[in-house]
Amino acid sequence: MSTINDVTVPDKSNIQGMILRGFTHPYSCHMVFKFKDQPGAKSFIKAIFPYVQSAESWGDEKPDLMLNIGLTCSGIAMVSNLNATDMKYFPWTFQKGPASGGSQQSLNDCGPSDPSKWAFGNTTQQVDCVVHTYAMSPQMLKQLVSIVSNAATAGGLTEYLPLDEGTKRLEEYALIPRNSIHFGYLDGIDQPKLGWTNPMDPSDLRNFLIGYPPSAFSPGPTLGDAGTFAKDGCYNAFRILLQDVELFDNFLSTNAENIAKTIGQTPKYAKEWLAAKLNGRWINGSPLELSPDEPDPKTSHSTKFGYAGDTSGMKCPFAAHSRVANPRDEKLSEQGPVPRLIRRGMAYGAPPLINSYKGERGLIGLFLCGSLPTQFELLYSWINTTNFSAVFPSQNGQDALIANRSMETADTSFTIPTDKGPVVIKDMPQFVVTRGTAYCLLPSLSTLKSLAE
Ligand code: HEM
Repeated sequence: MSTINDVTVPDKSNIQGMILRGFTHPYSCHMVFKFKDQPGAKSFIKAIFPYVQSAESWGDEKPDLMLNIGLTCSGIAMVSNLNATDMKYFPWTFQKGPASGGSQQSLNDCGPSDPSKWAFGNTTQQVDCVVHTYAMSPQMLKQLVSIVSNAATAGGLTEYLPLDEGTKRLEEYALIPRNSIHFGYLDGIDQPKLGWTNPMDPSDLRNFLIGYPPSAFSPGPTLGDAGTFAKDGCYNAFRILLQDVELFDNFLSTNAENIAKTIGQTPKYAKEWLAAKLNGRWINGSPLELSPDEPDPKTSHSTKFGYAGDTSGMKCPFAAHSRVANPRDEKLSEQGPVPRLIRRGMAYGAPPLINSYKGERGLIGLFLCGSLPTQFELLYSWINTTNFSAVFPSQNGQDALIANRSMETADTSFTIPTDKGPVVIKDMPQFVVTRGTAYCLLPSLSTLKSLAE
């Protein structure tokens, strides 16, 4: 333990690594399990515990292979010695899981995303544990995956193989450049700073790590044996999102023809422009607020900008994904700060250029937070219904890039203000479909060690 700004801060060696930094290993596989019984679950954690990577510095040499472990509420109830009364200290949202009625009010996984169609995380495919493995080469990943898989078999665990009709694991597609995702955008640009300066700042680590009250989003539990168990942990909303790359590309090409005429530009420019308007950043990462007319390499990683000065949406449309997922200085209808998420996701499935690939493509989403309902789910509700700021002209509009269009109450049109009049695209297609979700706690290393003993 040491102190920063008079706060007693935890040892990094007790925190799972992905909470404090994105692992930049080129290969990863995300393995989803259901436990059979307590002895089997304990033996599984014991076998893989030596590979758990903490947040401590690894020096100049990145570990060749390493993993992090997430446990759902049912997984904790099975593997720990917490009793039913202790378990009630965990937040209701975590107890009930993402397919529950309460969570679905925000996530709104209806139509093709309906939980009944998920590959895991619904009532028939209960998840207890997710293991995130990382390696420097395909051989090392294979080695680590087989260590985890053998330990799972020995402990009687059931593994879900979510992809390609239940035969394949969720493996990162290593040839997609780091920080790039399907649809072609640069990703992972803006992340919370995770400091210890002001607990009311949504970016402060106390809003992610459990056990450091007071803070703006009050991660918990902090009391009882559940509080001891959860201390130095963080929640991970693990969400697999299929991306319809072909639909997305056709959408851009088809609309670019008309838009080019309206804005007096070439169809090639109009295609890039439309992609930028959907996201709020150009493909190279330049924010529309700083580079409204064309991508600029100098601003591709910029994070210092706001939307409050763009009340007409002339630079960045209101429904652009980045403007909805982090409205920054936008005036909100309700009191309270804008929640932040730590994003540690990566792409699965080969890019469209690889013609021989016939599987699905998407995002292995790892959304880390200290409070599932007031950080992750609140942002999701904004994505599905943009009713959080009076500045937004449509209070039942939707995030242009990732919202679920099957919601009956939603306004599925997308308006792009321009100085030549608004471009309005009616009936936006659904580019993203939910394939599975699990709410996990990433427990501290001391908690994991106690489970292994
Ligand atoms: C397949 C689905 C998704 C795609 C393709 C996608 C794409 C992107 C892209 C291209 C950016 C801009 C790059 C950056 O700022 O790092 C971004 C930012 C962001 N996304 Fe997503 N995203 C997806 C899902 C989600 C979900 C489900 C959430 C939250 C629940 C989310 C929350 C955010 C946040 C908070 C930002 C940062 C905005 C900022 O700070 O300016 N995204 N996303």
